[in-house]
Amino acid sequence: MSIQKKEFKKITTHVLLEMKQKGEKISMLTAYDFSMAKLVDQAGIDVILVGDSASNVMAGHETTLPITLDQMIYHASSVVRGIDRALVVVDLPFGSYQGNSKEALASTIRIMKESGAHAVKMEGGEEIIESIKRILTAGVPVMGHLGLTPQSIYKFGTYTVRATEDEEAEKLIHDSKLLQEAGCFALVLEKIPSKLAKRVAENLTIPVIGIGAGSDVDGQVLVLHDMLGINTEFKPRFLRKYADLHGIITAAVQHYVSDVKSRDFPNEKEQY
Ligand code: KIV
Repeated sequence: MSIQKKEFKKITTHVLLEMKQKGEKISMLTAYDFSMAKLVDQAGIDVILVGDSASNVMAGHETTLPITLDQMIYHASSVVRGIDRALVVVDLPFGSYQGNSKEALASTIRIMKESGAHAVKMEGGEEIIESIKRILTAGVPVMGHLGLTPQSIYKFGTYTVRATEDEEAEKLIHDSKLLQEAGCFALVLEKIPSKLAKRVAENLTIPVIGIGAGSDVDGQVLVLHDMLGINTEFKPRFLRKYADLHGIITAAVQHYVSDVKSRDFPNEKEQY
Protein backbone atom coordinates (compact mmCIF):
# COMPACT_ATOMS: atom_id res chain seq x y z
CA MET A 1 0.00 0.00 0.00
CA SER A 2 1.50 3.36 -0.99
CA ILE A 3 1.16 6.41 1.21
CA GLN A 4 -0.06 9.41 -0.81
CA LYS A 5 2.37 12.29 -0.44
CA LYS A 6 0.53 15.42 0.63
CA GLU A 7 1.04 18.27 -1.81
CA PHE A 8 0.55 21.05 0.69
CA LYS A 9 2.62 22.47 3.48
CA LYS A 10 0.85 22.37 6.85
CA ILE A 11 0.56 25.82 8.38
CA THR A 12 2.47 26.19 11.63
CA THR A 13 3.30 29.23 13.73
CA HIS A 14 6.75 29.21 12.05
CA VAL A 15 5.18 29.27 8.60
CA LEU A 16 3.16 32.35 9.64
CA LEU A 17 6.34 34.08 10.80
CA GLU A 18 8.01 33.28 7.46
CA MET A 19 4.96 34.68 5.67
CA LYS A 20 5.35 37.98 7.54
CA GLN A 21 9.07 38.05 6.74
CA LYS A 22 8.35 37.45 3.03
CA GLY A 23 5.53 39.99 2.97
CA GLU A 24 2.94 37.30 2.15
CA LYS A 25 -0.47 38.14 3.64
CA ILE A 26 -2.08 35.67 6.05
CA SER A 27 -5.74 34.67 5.58
CA MET A 28 -7.80 33.72 8.61
CA LEU A 29 -11.52 32.92 9.04
CA THR A 30 -13.60 31.56 11.86
CA ALA A 31 -15.25 28.14 11.75
CA TYR A 32 -17.14 26.27 14.42
CA ASP A 33 -18.13 22.92 12.90
CA PHE A 34 -16.73 20.00 10.88
CA SER A 35 -18.43 20.67 7.52
CA MET A 36 -17.60 24.37 7.31
CA ALA A 37 -14.04 23.79 8.56
CA LYS A 38 -13.52 21.18 5.84
CA LEU A 39 -14.76 23.57 3.14
CA VAL A 40 -12.70 26.48 4.43
CA ASP A 41 -9.55 24.37 4.80
CA GLN A 42 -9.88 22.88 1.33
CA ALA A 43 -10.40 26.37 -0.12
CA GLY A 44 -6.91 27.26 1.12
CA ILE A 45 -7.30 29.29 4.30
CA ASP A 46 -4.12 29.64 6.39
CA VAL A 47 -5.62 29.91 9.89
CA ILE A 48 -9.00 28.80 11.25
CA LEU A 49 -10.13 30.55 14.40
CA VAL A 50 -12.62 28.70 16.55
CA GLY A 51 -13.79 32.04 17.84
CA ASP A 52 -15.93 32.64 20.87
CA SER A 53 -18.09 34.47 18.31
CA ALA A 54 -19.67 30.98 18.21
CA SER A 55 -21.62 32.37 21.15
CA ASN A 56 -23.24 34.87 18.74
CA VAL A 57 -23.45 33.08 15.41
CA MET A 58 -23.97 29.49 16.53
CA ALA A 59 -25.86 29.93 19.81
CA GLY A 60 -27.67 33.23 19.22
CA HIS A 61 -26.38 35.01 22.32
CA GLU A 62 -26.04 38.80 22.23
CA THR A 63 -22.43 38.70 23.50
CA THR A 64 -19.50 36.29 23.62
CA LEU A 65 -19.67 36.04 27.41
CA PRO A 66 -22.01 33.06 27.88
CA ILE A 67 -20.08 30.44 25.88
CA THR A 68 -18.42 27.84 28.11
CA LEU A 69 -15.10 26.00 27.96
CA ASP A 70 -16.94 22.72 27.27
CA GLN A 71 -18.81 24.33 24.36
CA MET A 72 -15.57 25.77 22.91
CA ILE A 73 -13.98 22.31 23.14
CA TYR A 74 -16.97 20.78 21.33
CA HIS A 75 -16.68 23.32 18.49
CA ALA A 76 -12.88 23.04 18.33
CA SER A 77 -12.82 19.24 18.17
CA SER A 78 -15.42 19.32 15.35
CA VAL A 79 -13.24 21.79 13.42
CA VAL A 80 -10.04 19.81 13.96
CA ARG A 81 -11.69 16.70 12.46
CA GLY A 82 -12.37 18.68 9.27
CA ILE A 83 -8.93 20.10 8.52
CA ASP A 84 -5.71 18.90 6.89
CA ARG A 85 -3.69 22.06 6.32
CA ALA A 86 -4.79 25.10 8.34
CA LEU A 87 -3.52 26.10 11.77
CA VAL A 88 -6.42 25.86 14.25
CA VAL A 89 -6.53 28.52 16.97
CA VAL A 90 -9.16 28.38 19.73
CA ASP A 91 -10.44 31.29 21.82
CA LEU A 92 -10.16 30.84 25.55
CA PRO A 93 -13.71 31.79 26.62
CA PHE A 94 -14.61 34.51 29.10
CA GLY A 95 -14.03 33.35 32.67
CA SER A 96 -11.56 30.59 31.79
CA TYR A 97 -8.33 32.59 32.13
CA GLN A 98 -8.75 36.10 33.54
CA GLY A 99 -7.18 36.75 36.93
CA ASN A 100 -5.85 33.27 37.56
CA SER A 101 -2.90 31.94 35.60
CA LYS A 102 -3.27 28.39 36.99
CA GLU A 103 -6.86 28.26 35.78
CA ALA A 104 -5.74 29.72 32.45
CA LEU A 105 -3.25 26.89 32.00
CA ALA A 106 -5.78 24.27 33.11
CA SER A 107 -8.33 25.62 30.58
CA THR A 108 -5.70 25.61 27.84
CA ILE A 109 -4.62 22.07 28.60
CA ARG A 110 -8.22 20.90 28.34
CA ILE A 111 -8.58 22.62 24.95
CA MET A 112 -5.35 21.16 23.60
CA LYS A 113 -5.94 17.60 24.94
CA GLU A 114 -9.64 17.31 24.20
CA SER A 115 -9.84 19.10 20.81
CA GLY A 116 -6.48 18.53 19.15
CA ALA A 117 -6.20 22.24 18.24
CA HIS A 118 -2.82 23.89 17.71
CA ALA A 119 -2.95 27.18 19.65
CA VAL A 120 -5.14 29.42 21.82
CA LYS A 121 -6.14 33.07 21.56
CA MET A 122 -6.67 35.40 24.53
CA GLU A 123 -8.07 38.93 24.80
CA GLY A 124 -6.06 41.55 26.68
CA GLY A 125 -2.57 42.90 27.39
CA GLU A 126 -0.67 43.60 30.59
CA GLU A 127 -3.57 42.49 32.82
CA ILE A 128 -3.38 38.88 31.52
CA ILE A 129 0.38 38.64 30.93
CA GLU A 130 0.97 36.18 33.79
CA SER A 131 -1.60 33.80 32.32
CA ILE A 132 -0.02 34.09 28.87
CA LYS A 133 3.46 33.38 30.25
CA ARG A 134 2.27 30.34 32.18
CA ILE A 135 0.54 28.89 29.11
CA LEU A 136 3.65 29.48 27.02
CA THR A 137 5.78 27.58 29.56
CA ALA A 138 3.61 24.54 28.80
CA GLY A 139 4.60 24.81 25.13
CA VAL A 140 1.24 26.03 23.84
CA PRO A 141 1.37 28.82 21.24
CA VAL A 142 -0.64 31.90 22.18
CA MET A 143 -2.21 34.47 19.86
CA GLY A 144 -2.92 37.86 21.47
CA HIS A 145 -5.99 40.04 20.82
CA LEU A 146 -6.07 43.82 21.41
CA GLY A 147 -8.26 46.75 20.41
CA LEU A 148 -11.94 45.90 20.55
CA THR A 149 -12.02 42.88 22.83
CA PRO A 150 -15.65 41.69 22.89
CA GLN A 151 -15.28 39.83 26.20
CA SER A 152 -14.96 43.30 27.82
CA ILE A 153 -18.04 44.73 26.11
CA TYR A 154 -19.65 45.75 29.39
CA LYS A 155 -16.52 47.76 30.28
CA PHE A 156 -16.49 49.53 26.89
CA GLY A 157 -20.27 49.90 26.64
CA THR A 158 -20.28 49.86 22.81
CA TYR A 159 -18.73 48.06 19.85
CA THR A 160 -17.33 51.30 18.34
CA VAL A 161 -13.75 51.82 17.12
CA ARG A 162 -11.14 51.57 19.92
CA ALA A 163 -7.92 53.48 20.60
CA THR A 164 -8.87 56.67 18.79
CA GLU A 165 -7.52 58.71 21.75
CA ASP A 166 -3.77 58.98 22.43
CA GLU A 167 -3.87 57.39 25.87
CA GLU A 168 -5.60 54.21 24.69
CA ALA A 169 -3.42 54.07 21.56
CA GLU A 170 -0.24 54.29 23.68
CA LYS A 171 -1.52 51.51 25.97
CA LEU A 172 -2.25 49.36 22.93
CA ILE A 173 1.29 49.89 21.59
CA HIS A 174 2.73 49.10 25.03
CA ASP A 175 0.59 45.95 25.34
CA SER A 176 1.49 44.75 21.83
CA LYS A 177 5.20 44.90 22.73
CA LEU A 178 4.57 43.07 26.02
CA LEU A 179 2.70 40.30 24.20
CA GLN A 180 5.52 39.86 21.70
CA GLU A 181 8.17 39.89 24.47
CA ALA A 182 6.19 37.31 26.45
CA GLY A 183 6.30 35.01 23.41
CA CYS A 184 2.94 35.31 21.60
CA PHE A 185 3.29 34.00 18.03
CA ALA A 186 0.78 36.47 16.51
CA LEU A 187 -1.59 39.26 17.43
CA VAL A 188 -5.16 40.10 16.38
CA LEU A 189 -6.05 43.80 16.27
CA GLU A 190 -9.78 44.45 16.18
CA LYS A 191 -11.51 47.67 15.10
CA ILE A 192 -8.78 50.29 15.58
CA PRO A 193 -7.63 53.12 13.28
CA SER A 194 -5.61 51.78 10.34
CA LYS A 195 -2.68 54.16 11.03
CA LEU A 196 -2.29 52.76 14.53
CA ALA A 197 -2.52 49.16 13.25
CA LYS A 198 0.16 49.94 10.64
CA ARG A 199 2.44 51.31 13.36
CA VAL A 200 1.97 48.19 15.51
CA ALA A 201 2.57 45.82 12.58
CA GLU A 202 5.74 47.68 11.62
CA ASN A 203 7.04 47.66 15.21
CA LEU A 204 6.50 43.95 15.79
CA THR A 205 8.32 40.97 14.28
CA ILE A 206 5.33 38.64 14.93
CA PRO A 207 2.41 38.64 12.44
CA VAL A 208 -0.40 41.11 13.11
CA ILE A 209 -3.81 40.05 11.82
CA GLY A 210 -6.50 42.68 11.54
CA ILE A 211 -10.28 42.82 11.61
CA GLY A 212 -11.42 46.36 10.95
CA ALA A 213 -7.79 47.48 11.29
CA GLY A 214 -7.02 48.44 7.70
CA SER A 215 -4.76 46.95 5.04
CA ASP A 216 -1.30 47.67 6.45
CA VAL A 217 -1.17 44.63 8.71
CA ASP A 218 0.15 41.13 7.99
CA GLY A 219 -3.17 39.38 7.50
CA GLN A 220 -6.95 39.62 7.76
CA VAL A 221 -9.62 37.76 9.72
CA LEU A 222 -13.40 37.78 9.33
CA VAL A 223 -16.25 35.87 10.92
CA LEU A 224 -17.26 33.22 8.36
CA HIS A 225 -21.02 33.70 8.74
CA ASP A 226 -20.65 37.46 8.20
CA MET A 227 -18.49 37.25 5.05
CA LEU A 228 -20.72 34.55 3.57
CA GLY A 229 -23.76 36.79 4.02
CA ILE A 230 -25.63 34.35 6.27
CA ASN A 231 -26.12 37.05 8.86
CA THR A 232 -27.82 40.06 7.25
CA GLU A 233 -28.16 42.31 10.30
CA PHE A 234 -24.43 42.84 10.99
CA LYS A 235 -23.07 45.48 8.58
CA PRO A 236 -19.94 47.17 9.94
CA ARG A 237 -17.85 49.22 7.50
CA PHE A 238 -14.97 46.71 7.59
CA LEU A 239 -17.10 43.76 6.47
CA ARG A 240 -16.95 42.68 2.82
CA LYS A 241 -19.65 40.16 1.90
CA TYR A 242 -18.35 37.49 -0.49
CA ALA A 243 -21.68 35.69 -0.95
CA ASP A 244 -25.37 36.02 -0.26
CA LEU A 245 -25.96 32.71 1.49
CA HIS A 246 -28.97 34.21 3.27
CA GLY A 247 -30.65 34.64 -0.12
CA ILE A 248 -29.44 31.30 -1.50
CA ILE A 249 -30.47 29.27 1.57
CA THR A 250 -33.84 31.04 1.89
CA ALA A 251 -34.65 30.38 -1.79
CA ALA A 252 -33.58 26.73 -1.54
CA VAL A 253 -35.70 26.12 1.58
CA GLN A 254 -38.72 27.92 0.05
CA HIS A 255 -38.33 25.78 -3.08
CA TYR A 256 -38.21 22.58 -0.97
CA VAL A 257 -41.27 23.58 1.07
CA SER A 258 -43.17 24.30 -2.13
CA ASP A 259 -42.10 20.96 -3.72
CA VAL A 260 -43.21 19.00 -0.62
CA LYS A 261 -46.56 20.80 -0.43
CA SER A 262 -47.23 20.33 -4.14
CA ARG A 263 -46.17 16.63 -3.97
CA ASP A 264 -43.48 17.27 -6.57
CA PHE A 265 -40.87 15.89 -4.12
CA PRO A 266 -40.04 13.04 -4.04
CA ASN A 267 -40.62 11.99 -7.64
CA GLU A 268 -40.46 8.44 -9.10
CA LYS A 269 -36.66 8.43 -9.33
CA GLU A 270 -36.23 9.68 -5.78
CA GLN A 271 -37.82 6.66 -4.10
CA TYR A 272 -37.17 2.92 -3.66
O1 KIV B 1 -14.32 35.33 18.18
C1 KIV B 1 -13.98 35.80 17.08
O2 KIV B 1 -14.58 35.53 16.03
C2 KIV B 1 -12.84 36.71 17.06
C3 KIV B 1 -12.55 37.42 15.78
C4 KIV B 1 -13.51 38.51 15.59
C5 KIV B 1 -11.14 37.86 15.70
O3 KIV B 1 -12.19 36.88 18.05
